[in-house]
Amino acid sequence: MVQYSELVGRSVVVTGSAGGIGEVAARAFYDQGAYVFLLDIDSIKIEQIASELGDRAFAKPVDLTDPLAVKATFASIFMASYGLDILINCAGGYSKLQSIEEMDLAEWDQTIALNLRSVFLCCQAAIPGLKKSKAGRIINVTSISGRTVHAVSSPAYGAAKAGVTQLSKFLAYELGPFGITTNNIAPLTTLTPRVKALRSQEDIDRIALQVPMRRLATEDDHVYAMLYLASNGASFVNGTTIDTNGGRVMM
Ligand SMILES: NC(=O)c1ccc[n+]([C@@H]2O[C@H](COP(=O)([O-])OP(=O)(O)OC[C@H]3O[C@@H](n4cnc5c(N)ncnc54)[C@H](O)[C@@H]3O)[C@@H](O)[C@H]2O)c1
Repeated sequence: MVQYSELVGRSVVVTGSAGGIGEVAARAFYDQGAYVFLLDIDSIKIEQIASELGDRAFAKPVDLTDPLAVKATFASIFMASYGLDILINCAGGYSKLQSIEEMDLAEWDQTIALNLRSVFLCCQAAIPGLKKSKAGRIINVTSISGRTVHAVSSPAYGAAKAGVTQLSKFLAYELGPFGITTNNIAPLTTLTPRVKALRSQEDIDRIALQVPMRRLATEDDHVYAMLYLASNGASFVNGTTIDTNGGRVMM
């Protein structure tokens, strides 16, 4: 993986880092020489990953939809005296493929809370720390499902991810004067364990055939884009989305 020497010693929060794309991101930023804070509700898994990584990795178990818990977690990160340079909001997802007609309100509320409320809470809590950074970055992981409708997924999820895209534009506008950039990465279907459990092989083959590159995404496809957005070379890229989707949707 490409090395960005400026990431050595930077302090990075990765939410949803107990598995899937977030775990690969946390490991990649650690390999760059950064201090990495792993935030996830799955305390056992993040403790295990942090201890595997080494003394620059810290597990912070938290329910990211809980405002008080999120505030307390970021306060404890600020106290660790590494500051905060990069916030990667990766926690998200949905557990059921559903139509609007099938969706019950509890599922709607839960999906919006995990995918939109949590991003708002983390960004708001992170701002005081990011303002002290020389190269503050917010990277929000959205989805192709927030850019278009490409397959049966979850309407609540798509709506929440579209909401994050617009939230990122507000952040880009408000925080730009402080040298903080905010951008999104919008992945195509990626076979993380959660998504493997949701999609049939037939579904996977059909999605891959619709992609000009004729494959699904890998975790690394998204993490390369995160590293670029975190690097000094991306300091003037603000308020945009990198569609890591192999050309499935071109916007
Ligand atoms: N995998 C895909 O196909 C795909 C496609 C497009 C976008 N994305 C987006 O990429 C991101 C990562 O996806 P993934 O497939 O790697 O997901 P994943 O399910 O593997 O990881 C999500 C993590 O979030 C954590 N989490 C869930 N609820 C939480 C809560 N309330 N508080 C704290 N942590 C919580 C989980 O424990 C898990 O570790 C998500 O935002 C997802 O929407 C994924």
